[in-house]
Amino acid sequence: MSLQGAAGPEELIFYVNGRKIIEKNADPEQMLLSYLRKRLRLTGTKYGCGGGGCGACTVMISTYEPALKKIRHYSANACLLPICSLYGAAVTTVEGVGSTKTRVHPVQERLAKCHGSQCGFCTPGMVMSIYTLLRNHPEPTSEQMIAALAGNLCRCTGYRPILDACKTFCKESICCQRKTNEKCCLDHEDDLFDKEEKVSTRLFSTDEFQPLDPTQELIFPPELMRMAENQPKRTLFFHGERMTWISPVSLNELLDLKAAYPKAPLLVGNTSVGPEMKFRGVFHPIVIAPARIPDLNMVKCTDDGLTLGAACSLSLVKDILTNAMAEFPEEKTKVFSAVLQQLRTLGGEQIRNIASLGGNIISRKSTSDLNPILAASNCMLNLASRGRKRQIPLSDIFADGVGNNTITPEEILVSVRIPHSRKGEYVSAFRQAPRRENALPVTNAGMRVLFEEGTDTIKDLSIFYGGAVSTTVCAKQTCRTLIGRHWNKQMLDEACRLVLKEIALPGSDNGEKVDYKKTLIVSFFYRFFLEVSQSLKTMDPCHYPGIPMEYRSVLQDFKTKMPQSIQIYQDTELSQSPQDPVGRPIMHQSGIKHATGEAVYVDDLPSVDGELFLAVVTSSRAHAKIVSIDTSEALKGPGVFDIITAHDVPATNEFYYSDDPEIIFARNKVICVGQIVCAVVADSDDHAKQAAAKVKIEYEVLEPVILTIEEAIQHNSFFEPKRKLEQGNVDRAFETVDNIIEGEIRIGGQEHFYIETQSVLVVPKGEDNEMDVYVSTQHPAIIQEMVAASLGVPANRIMCHVKRVGGAFGGKLLKAGLLASVAAVAANKTSRAVRLILSRGDDMLITGGRHPFIGKYKVGFMNDGRIRAVDAKYYINGGCTPDESVLVAEVSLLKMDNAYKIPNLRCWAYACKTNLPSNTAFRGFGFPQSALVTETWITGVADKIGLSPEKIREINMYKENEQTHFKQKLDPQNLIRCWNECMEKSAYYSRKTAVNEFNKQNHWKKKGIAIVPMKFPFGLGTRYLSQAAALVHIYTDGSVLLTHGGIEMGQGIHTKMIQVASRELNIPMSCIHFCETSTTTVPNACASVGSAGTDVNGMAVKDACQTLLKRLQPIINKNPKGTWNDWIKEAFEQSVSLSATGYFRGYNENMDWEKGEGQPFTYFLYGAACSEVEINCLTGDHKNLRTDIVMDIGCSINPAVDIGQGIGEAGLFLGCSVFFALRDAVTRVRNERGLKKTFALNSPLTAEQIRASCADDFTDMMANNESASSTPQTTSV
Ligand SMILES: Cc1cc2nc3c(=O)[nH]c(=O)nc-3n(C[C@H](O)[C@H](O)[C@H](O)COP(=O)(O)OP(=O)(O)OC[C@H]3O[C@@H](n4cnc5c(N)ncnc54)[C@H](O)[C@@H]3O)c2cc1C
Ligand code: FES
Ligand code: FES
Repeated sequence: MSLQGAAGPEELIFYVNGRKIIEKNADPEQMLLSYLRKRLRLTGTKYGCGGGGCGACTVMISTYEPALKKIRHYSANACLLPICSLYGAAVTTVEGVGSTKTRVHPVQERLAKCHGSQCGFCTPGMVMSIYTLLRNHPEPTSEQMIAALAGNLCRCTGYRPILDACKTFCKESICCQRKTNEKCCLDHEDDLFDKEEKVSTRLFSTDEFQPLDPTQELIFPPELMRMAENQPKRTLFFHGERMTWISPVSLNELLDLKAAYPKAPLLVGNTSVGPEMKFRGVFHPIVIAPARIPDLNMVKCTDDGLTLGAACSLSLVKDILTNAMAEFPEEKTKVFSAVLQQLRTLGGEQIRNIASLGGNIISRKSTSDLNPILAASNCMLNLASRGRKRQIPLSDIFADGVGNNTITPEEILVSVRIPHSRKGEYVSAFRQAPRRENALPVTNAGMRVLFEEGTDTIKDLSIFYGGAVSTTVCAKQTCRTLIGRHWNKQMLDEACRLVLKEIALPGSDNGEKVDYKKTLIVSFFYRFFLEVSQSLKTMDPCHYPGIPMEYRSVLQDFKTKMPQSIQIYQDTELSQSPQDPVGRPIMHQSGIKHATGEAVYVDDLPSVDGELFLAVVTSSRAHAKIVSIDTSEALKGPGVFDIITAHDVPATNEFYYSDDPEIIFARNKVICVGQIVCAVVADSDDHAKQAAAKVKIEYEVLEPVILTIEEAIQHNSFFEPKRKLEQGNVDRAFETVDNIIEGEIRIGGQEHFYIETQSVLVVPKGEDNEMDVYVSTQHPAIIQEMVAASLGVPANRIMCHVKRVGGAFGGKLLKAGLLASVAAVAANKTSRAVRLILSRGDDMLITGGRHPFIGKYKVGFMNDGRIRAVDAKYYINGGCTPDESVLVAEVSLLKMDNAYKIPNLRCWAYACKTNLPSNTAFRGFGFPQSALVTETWITGVADKIGLSPEKIREINMYKENEQTHFKQKLDPQNLIRCWNECMEKSAYYSRKTAVNEFNKQNHWKKKGIAIVPMKFPFGLGTRYLSQAAALVHIYTDGSVLLTHGGIEMGQGIHTKMIQVASRELNIPMSCIHFCETSTTTVPNACASVGSAGTDVNGMAVKDACQTLLKRLQPIINKNPKGTWNDWIKEAFEQSVSLSATGYFRGYNENMDWEKGEGQPFTYFLYGAACSEVEINCLTGDHKNLRTDIVMDIGCSINPAVDIGQGIGEAGLFLGCSVFFALRDAVTRVRNERGLKKTFALNSPLTAEQIRASCADDFTDMMANNESASSTPQTTSV
């Protein structure tokens, strides 16, 4: 078969939102996402990761099956869907679902009105997942809803408001399931608060919602139906710039093609090949798409099982098995049930809808969730090649361990036979992943045992593991040895010993995980042992004792259920005018546009004539001299325009905000992996990226390479100044205390993972060096300053514009400035507009994140729990440039006391200078870390003297008007109120008793509960950082244009500012519009950080509005019955200025670090949170059962937005109540097993750590296992 077989270029025909698309030059390398966004200008579908992981690009695909006369609708990730796979399909994007210009769909309306969008970048993807579900199930169950959303990430909302919107579509009433007196506890709001407080629990009103009307949806295009029915299927060829796509229609044709091109992959879902091509540089000149071949889509039910075509999607497999479960007796469906168990959590729904059964098997990834269970269950593969068909057991493809492929390159998998289970056969599948859904497993397993009839004597045993080595492995020897044995404790002990010996994990796997995987390997077998023992008892209670009562709960996995919640907030006073929106739960002003995809982000801006795309080339060495940069190959690439280096920077390449510089392009040497060395500009994003990969950089490694905090300490490598705070006499206090504990906690770094990656579009205006910079940032003024300095032009030539930002969390400050400068230098050199949208991988590599943190402490306390002295040292890993690391270190010192009075205190903070990408601001800015250290030693004190942690917290909490360790006064009344209220509302003590009771009755599952207080000081440390300005114009038609210096990044600041202006001007919010934040309207605006944006900009908006109202007052007085429009008209005629600026000087904040005293904060927010969790001691799996949060945040301008935001940065810290509840559960396990009382837990508290801390016989086996010595390859930095 030859490629010349194709007669001329093929037309690719498909539909998008009811519109026919005929693509004459379909490129097999083009994914639907870029086609929608760039070619069709449908920018509602977003790029978040490009690898199927986030769901921001979700669309609905509809196909017609003529044989069944059925239309299938399914969600899919556009980022992994080659357009060539869409022949004859209909695509629906968020724009096709509804828009403000036509009709807003109920899904869009409810998401917006239930406050389910904040930054809004994930919202179109959410809409599409829900919409697709509703197309298939107009009244879904809550289980279906949860499953539909498992593949969609949101970084802002915490999912609660999104689920609130979803629940309104679900059939069953969603309530707490704890009905008393016919009333759900969520209806008992009257009982929840004191009668005299006017509170509300309503954040939205369902009365406003349009009903869901399935008849209003876009129909499947009749032309596509006709095409499918009438046109004979023929082979399709699509030739792109570098790749050819062949889609055969018969098995024979496919076998011929495979014989001719044995190296060409068979592309079905592209979920395995796609990520390899995108992220690992694999390239295939030819791909074969077999999805249309009937043999590969067959579904056959025979006496002994099911045969499923290899191209069947995993969702289809799930449906077929679910139906089969209902059809056949339980005895026959144990394999089906175990496979289904894995399918429920494999990927998200978008992945399962396109990923194929054959692809999952043949990829033979170690992380395949299907292979272990299919192999253990004796599934067979039907293979074919030209002139040859054969059947082999699936387990053979992993024969003899790693990589021995018994399938030849010419062979293809036609179908898979999944057998019925037999009498006396038990089958189970297990899986542990970092997160229950949409995460690859750490380890998984498939196990099957067959007993001699009517006995517990093992006739056949099969154990397969995934995640352990590079492919699925079989514990063959173990199984062989155990045949003939009884299913009892002796067999179990030997099985564990044998399996550990047989499954040799390479010691070089990443560090501790090796031990975790080994523990899981035996824990899974133990779990299987328990399951089968219990089943034997059910079968024959007289002969088999089953398992003890307290072991049974571990047989039930944690399931993700629709969470329930209630939010209670202080309502507005009755005396407040109904028109005054302040204090009311107003919908985000962009909510509907988020949901319709009309909200514009940087990369949604239309292309500018002649625009170029920029891709960065980054360092692959942590510390090295740049010997040479060879750009010759890159420059030859198609569409390449130029390559930009440090030499092209007209003025400033290094910015000295402190002793060490922030650097645009590396010059001569690199100081971290991921540092930008140069950049390629080309006519398309793909061309720029392809060329960037061809730039060759030669390095000469420099010493030292400092990566970890420990190495920085060793080399005395710090950013200056180091900071210290001290009060009382610490040394003397240590001499008088009853007890002293010392310890250390490590808190890991964190990616911002704002769902919109760093984005900038720079447009030179062609005269006077003017440039428009459209940028996703929290700080336009610094972008303007850095771009101007890099180009050597005055700031008045650089106009920065920010409409909205798709999440920032602190990550879009200085880093955004450097990236904007890269793009501006390129635009300056080429005199073209330049667009730089970082890929997720580059973003994560380049931009740094939250600082890894080590807290060391020594605490002195009395036997009654009073803490008298603390000596603490905090080290943060700042990375290679200063950024805001010293400030973060300072904040960690200032906020380390959390809610406690510590009379004698000394604390130090060091910002370590290392060769990591530079770390930066991140939500909480040092507070969550240092306060977590504090809460850790609080629990340490409790452990030591045998009091509960909450007692130690109460004993040491600020109680009356006091002062902090830097002598700022505070009144902790509301802290105590929050604490008491949280205690009461969470029914802490009675639940603690219930937790104790549960723990007595359950051996392998334990619960834990914890309550944590919080004091969050508000302020930016110095006055000028909280100054703010606003500009308000009133036009002669009465409409108002408002702007201020704050940035909308999901926190609803513009909505709140409009609420403030509405109150001040006494006009409806609908009269007020916010266009954009820009350096042209509000100069020198401070960054939107520290949860201060609304506070300070609100003051400025108020000021501007009051100025205007003052000017209007004489006119209003003269005509009090007039309307707003009358007064404005009159004002204009009287030449009264209808434009005003507003200004807020900032709060009087200061800190003298020499003296260690000051008033760096303006006020304090308080709160408390109680969480209850459950852990599975065998796997470390865990679940948050309930959290109660009480917070005092003063007067909320918009309770819906504030509650949705978790009350800004303050609330973030309260998440640690889950950490301490988990610690409590682990403590209970350890106490029960008589283990050492003190133990260290680091953050993040992963399943791995929980498992390791719940030491038992299985973890002991690791310690005694000779092959257990593992050499960590990853390092804690
Ligand atoms: C975000 C994400 C999350 C995921 N999560 C999980 C998870 O939790 N658990 C898990 O197990 N997997 C997971 N996966 C992997 C996914 O299940 C597999 O990638 C998928 O099943 C492969 O099927 P495909 O049709 O997409 O394969 P493709 O990418 O189209 O092809 C994969 C390979 O299989 C070969 N192939 C396909 N069909 C045949 C055939 N009939 N005969 C011979 N060779 C064939 C191809 O030549 C190619 O080499 C995830 C993937 C993504 C992207
Ligand atoms: S899943 Fe496609 S962009 Fe993330
Ligand atoms: S609203 Fe979901 S990511 Fe911002």
